[in-house]
Amino acid sequence: MSSARPTVYVTRRLPEPAMRLLAETCLVSLWDEVERPVPRDKFLRGVASAEGLLSLLTERVDAEVLAAAPRLRVVANMAVGYDNIDVAACTARGVLVTNTPDVLTETTADLAWALMLAAARRIVEGQRMIEAGAWGPWHPLQMVGVDVYGATLGVVGAGRIGGAVLRRGRGFAMRLLYHNRHPAPALEAATGAVYRPFEDLLRESDFVVVTAPLTPATRGMLGAREFALMRDTAVFVNVARGPLVREDELVAALRAGRPRAAGLDVFEREPIGPEHPLLSLPNCVCVPHIGSATLTTRTRMATLAAENLVAALTGRPLLTPVNLTELAALGRGAPSWERGATDR
Ligand code: DGY
Repeated sequence: MSSARPTVYVTRRLPEPAMRLLAETCLVSLWDEVERPVPRDKFLRGVASAEGLLSLLTERVDAEVLAAAPRLRVVANMAVGYDNIDVAACTARGVLVTNTPDVLTETTADLAWALMLAAARRIVEGQRMIEAGAWGPWHPLQMVGVDVYGATLGVVGAGRIGGAVLRRGRGFAMRLLYHNRHPAPALEAATGAVYRPFEDLLRESDFVVVTAPLTPATRGMLGAREFALMRDTAVFVNVARGPLVREDELVAALRAGRPRAAGLDVFEREPIGPEHPLLSLPNCVCVPHIGSATLTTRTRMATLAAENLVAALTGRPLLTPVNLTELAALGRGAPSWERGATDR
């Protein structure tokens, strides 16, 4: 017997406003933990009767999940990145995918800047020195770093977050460069940034900040060859996805001092532990994938994911679809699955 309320599976307890929103319209089945991801076998069982799935970046949503979820109509990912989802497989099955762009843009750009400043000015290294009782008398070259103000900032990936990182550079009187698959005139107009081919950007930038999505084309795009092109004074920052970088080659490059320092929010295989070689490097600042981690932003992300899920299951316009065009091209999208008026 079919229920009037659509059944949804949610892979983690979300901030209350999002849980409430889901409960108003749906029959919610929940992996009711805050920290621990749902084990794969429980996940596969959990989606068996689900029409909607609200997933996090800790869940791989692939052909196996789709096969286990014959009634599935929508996957709402609580992240702007959706490399954890096999979008092509979803499209082929007529399953809609949504993500959470825009609501986390400024928060993530703030974190990119925190890492730029911390790595350039040796903030974490300085605290460690004090904690180790190794702070000796002031001397002219004690803990010298590199200047941010007036330097050249090169952003790889000209999406929303890349644009927000560049915009902040204006306040620091920086020369702004960007690289992207295609030139981005709107970003140039908004920030004054200038397009550079990838290798030229690496050669010319004092700060190289990666904000590109993880795709087959970008996986491993930064390795020994690219680091060797950077300045020996350069600071490298990654707030996008770990697998964009060949991590063992980054470790070797940082040991050799080119780039001079790095600030990393993301890693090849997360979470990393204290034994990870990057943590042994004084010139590397590591934080645990916290780009969007403010209460306000995480609540907005969860709420947007819930809104997308409910909209898809009740035939209302979607807020932030990923594969709507592809579904429409296959003749699979319902007409009501149009992008909503509020393009965030
Ligand atoms: C995302 O949204 O893709 C982040 O990595 C988590 O905020």
